[in-house]
Amino acid sequence: MNTTPLYRQLANHYLDAIRSGTLKTGERFPSIRLMMEKHAVSLSTAVQVCRELEDYGVLEARPRSGNYIRQPDKPQKTSPIALVQPLDTGVYVGIHEQVSSVLKASQRALIKVNFASAYCAPELYPLKTLQDNMVKSLRHDSCLYGVAGSTNGNSALRSLLARRALTTKANLTAERIVITNGATEAINLALRAVTQPGDTVAVESPTFYGLLQILESLNLRVLEVPASAHTGINLNALQLLLQGPEKIKAMIVIPNLQNPLGSIMPDANKARLVKLCAEHDTVLIEDDTYGDLVDTEQPLSTLKHWDRSDNVIYCASLNKTLAPGMRLGWISAGRWHERVEMLKHTQSRGCEALSQLAVSAFMKTPSYERYLRRLRKTLTQQRQQMSEAITRHFPIGTSVTHPQGGTLLWVELPRRHSSMAFFHEALKVGIQISPGDIFSNAKRFNHFVRIGCGAPYSPKIDEAVQTLGRILKNQG
Ligand SMILES: Cc1ncc(COP(=O)(O)O)c(C=O)c1O
Repeated sequence: MNTTPLYRQLANHYLDAIRSGTLKTGERFPSIRLMMEKHAVSLSTAVQVCRELEDYGVLEARPRSGNYIRQPDKPQKTSPIALVQPLDTGVYVGIHEQVSSVLKASQRALIKVNFASAYCAPELYPLKTLQDNMVKSLRHDSCLYGVAGSTNGNSALRSLLARRALTTKANLTAERIVITNGATEAINLALRAVTQPGDTVAVESPTFYGLLQILESLNLRVLEVPASAHTGINLNALQLLLQGPEKIKAMIVIPNLQNPLGSIMPDANKARLVKLCAEHDTVLIEDDTYGDLVDTEQPLSTLKHWDRSDNVIYCASLNKTLAPGMRLGWISAGRWHERVEMLKHTQSRGCEALSQLAVSAFMKTPSYERYLRRLRKTLTQQRQQMSEAITRHFPIGTSVTHPQGGTLLWVELPRRHSSMAFFHEALKVGIQISPGDIFSNAKRFNHFVRIGCGAPYSPKIDEAVQTLGRILKNQG
């Protein structure tokens, strides 16, 4: 039985909320009446709770206005009951631990300039058009939120995606597309459809750390295949691995504007990769998150285009190209479609309808292509400016990739530099970068960093690049 008086238990409850930031300085504290109602306590208990919190220095009463959370100006009394320790976000092994520690350190820091993001700056996205489309959609169908959408997603959007895929020479059908919560959900679904825990899945090395996290969270074993910034995955190395003793159940490849390398696989390599995987009965999961951000007007071909045996699962996303906040992605799983549909249904049901309507209304107009054309030009320029600034400010011996699209640069530091030490030093002055260590389980990239160029180049960014250069020179 809990012998702590009720008012103290409640005071501790709110104290925890204040300490964890759920209730913030300056916010109004729940009224006495609300506390009596919600916690079924008497007037005197509710008043005592407030007194106790005032005593801790975290609550102030403002005449005729109520109680407000305040910053304590004296050391706080120790809580009579030990506060609940913040829950660990999970038990991580391998890359999870490293990625989580990097993400946590970044969350704790006061970030002034973020070079760790792969997104474009918000002002580069067509937000006004999308908002207008949302309003129109709601006006047109005021009952929209009263009905649950289909598991597969909006059929008009699926048709538009299938039609657009034709330009990348992939043949997708609207009936076999499932709209997902970003590429992340699409890849999760693909892996769950074709693997069992304990199976081995191959990835490029380096690769997007989010993929390594997904594999780990699904208890899959990871095999890393070397990749280059010029032509992507090394097919000879892959062939040797496929012929080796370990069965590779699936392989995830980012053929176009690979993250972090920025490589685009030549068509001949795409064709060979698809053939190799089919011959070895290895399911090929294509992650085409960045394809639409290529500099050229000519769309890039997809692996799906070369797929003759329905062995490629195509995953893509609008989160980099159109609207990160909408979290829209999609999957075309071919012969695994029914299984993916079932998994999506059991996992999360269909995606929210309004954003799909807003996107399809935009995508069916010529403005969409015009918007993408503009975005590509802007990114080309931003990457160019960033690349020149890095060359100017970073130490001699630094090398930078020159991707033909996208938002990312992969920077190799002179060997004596540790990217993790660089990451922590940069964070201290409010600059966030992605250390190479998190892009692989093998410790091969600990002198690389990934720099995002999604924001328009500005004096503030230039100053931040200069600061990064200074940090590196001091470290050297
Ligand atoms: C290669 C790659 N795949 C997948 C994702 C995740 O995409 P989404 O935000 O659509 O879930 C990212 C995000 O950075 C990525 O770079």
